[in-house]
Amino acid sequence: MTDPEPLVRIEGLTKHFGETVALDDLTLDIARGEFVTFLGPSGCGKSTTLRILGGFERPTRGRVILDGADVTNQPPEKRQVNMVFQDYALFPHMTVAQNVSFGLELKGMGKAEIKRRSDEILSFLELESYGSRYPIQLSGGQRQRVALARALAPDPALLLLDEPLGALDAKLRGQVQQELKSIQRRTHKTFFFVTHDQEEALTMSDRIVVLNHGRVEQDGTPEELYFRPASRFVAEFIGETNLLSGRVRGKEDDKIVMDWHGQTLRGLAPQGSPDQGEPITASVRLEKLQFHSERPEMPNAVRGRVVGKTFLGSRMAMEIAVDDVEDAMLRAYVDAETGARVGSDPVWIGWDVDSMAMLTD
Ligand SMILES: Nc1ncnc2c1ncn2[C@@H]1O[C@H](COP(=O)(O)OP(=O)(O)OP(=O)(O)O)[C@@H](O)[C@H]1O
Ligand SMILES: [Mg+2]
Repeated sequence: MTDPEPLVRIEGLTKHFGETVALDDLTLDIARGEFVTFLGPSGCGKSTTLRILGGFERPTRGRVILDGADVTNQPPEKRQVNMVFQDYALFPHMTVAQNVSFGLELKGMGKAEIKRRSDEILSFLELESYGSRYPIQLSGGQRQRVALARALAPDPALLLLDEPLGALDAKLRGQVQQELKSIQRRTHKTFFFVTHDQEEALTMSDRIVVLNHGRVEQDGTPEELYFRPASRFVAEFIGETNLLSGRVRGKEDDKIVMDWHGQTLRGLAPQGSPDQGEPITASVRLEKLQFHSERPEMPNAVRGRVVGKTFLGSRMAMEIAVDDVEDAMLRAYVDAETGARVGSDPVWIGWDVDSMAMLTD
């Protein structure tokens, strides 16, 4: 947000479809060379934003500034922007090489130059031996690479990717994620990537923008979003977490002291510190909870009993019923071997102040 001249500046973007408010005053900057991911549930406005950036849709209000120029009313072909769609949208009656050349022809490039550029991009994406094949003769992963080659060929300043991996199976998806990331690094292009898969967003992005009901919920690095969620929505949407609802008992420096069913817990204060007696929710990630046989010297400690275990390969998810707090369950990850040894004896669960993000909504 501090870049004096971002590649893209989205200002107060609003889009209504009849009664539906798809985008609600969205403001966002994208720096050059950034890999930004737009993450959010179905219908939150991700594709609408991309379609407006690509020039396929006009906003009800707001502006899109690309490289310093207002492009809000420019048609797609005039913009230095290209888009990859979820279903790749390759032309089935054209070969791979023809698909890749298509955008270059539209730009009015000469034949020899088109051949040179198309060969270059096909070899860059290791597709040189597939030039004369038709899309139907390719695997899903190869088709995805062709779609990417076609979008990259005209050398756009900004590449929009709308859930481009949605059609791939889990294993191939992981591979293509790595490929896509490496292509972005090698080309230094600005990628605006859309997904509703939080794991995909965490592994691929420099920065994640979480969208909900057409508004930005949080904008930050994957680590910030994961460990410092700004809202309950983000805490629940990204990764698994324990949410503890209680009331503010008071403040100590930068900490909030909370009452959780008679237990005193301490966490980092959120922005706009809430007052004493106000309701508050704390979020603690499963891997931040530590097991002890005795009460640990930690700012947060509760006693409970293991009531369930789920083997997850490298680790085990434990369910702990907290003593003295009716219906309170905590979930914690432990090393699979440690988990296997935990029996019916009471256990102490401890965690640090900075492992607990306090949420006001
Ligand atoms: N052409 C349209 N006409 C009417 N409503 C539309 C149109 N396009 C989108 N919408 C509505 O706008 C909202 C946002 O849609 P959008 O396609 O941007 O969501 P999305 O975040 O991409 O969701 P998904 O993850 O399911 O692709 C939805 O409520 C959708 O029904
Ligand atoms: Mg969509």
